[in-house]
Amino acid sequence: MKKVALTLAALTLLTAAQARTWAEIKQSGTIKIATEGAFPPFNLLKGKELTGFEVDLANALAKGLGLKVQWVTQPFDNLLIGLGQDRYDFVIASHGITPERLKAVDFTNPHYCTGGAVVTKPGGPMNAAALRGKTVAVQVGTTYLENVRKVPGLKDVKTFPKDTDAQAALMAGRVDAWVGDKFTGLDLVKAQKGKVVQGDLLFNEKIGMAVKKGNSSLLKELNAALAKALSNGTYAKLSTQYFGTDVRCK
Ligand code: ARG
Repeated sequence: MKKVALTLAALTLLTAAQARTWAEIKQSGTIKIATEGAFPPFNLLKGKELTGFEVDLANALAKGLGLKVQWVTQPFDNLLIGLGQDRYDFVIASHGITPERLKAVDFTNPHYCTGGAVVTKPGGPMNAAALRGKTVAVQVGTTYLENVRKVPGLKDVKTFPKDTDAQAALMAGRVDAWVGDKFTGLDLVKAQKGKVVQGDLLFNEKIGMAVKKGNSSLLKELNAALAKALSNGTYAKLSTQYFGTDVRCK
């Protein structure tokens, strides 16, 4: 009996572990940031090098905060769970700020605004109405999945661990459409040179960085660093480099 009680107490202690506060992070000199590393052009691995708009932006924010960065990569679906387990300080991986996610984590002010777009082969379904009776590929755990499920009359939704696998399913003709980020879609259209086309947006979303729920000291510093990057030209420079336009929320 006693043994069980001890184990439970230990478990409670474990789950009650605290996220690192801003003071603790600052003192250590290094911030631990998690991303997926498979979501071009936002976060991706080029060989062994982690790069992309969000990676560059987070590195710039950390620099502004006077910190070194330790990057951690995780499958997309595990990122917010690991945050709850204090495995890193924050997550930047194109998470849309949704009511559902806000139950589990806190989000910074948005670091970009975007939408979920339908991408298909020429002649394929270009909007929600045309998706009736069709099969769609999406990455698992995403707002694309959540929103595609609301489309009436869909035949099937196929989920993939990685967004790039969902795109590959479209290219291979295994689905009628892929729903993904509109900027990713534009890159795919360019790379495939006319073999795919981008249709309508199914929804719009604001993308933010996630901290552990209640980590208000870190949230405040990240928001301040983001505001600074937005006003001093750092953000505009990166955004133009990756997208040829400024993707901040307006
Ligand atoms: N914006 C979408 C969402 O909020 C997709 C994010 C996918 N991110 C990634 N790193 N694969 O769910």
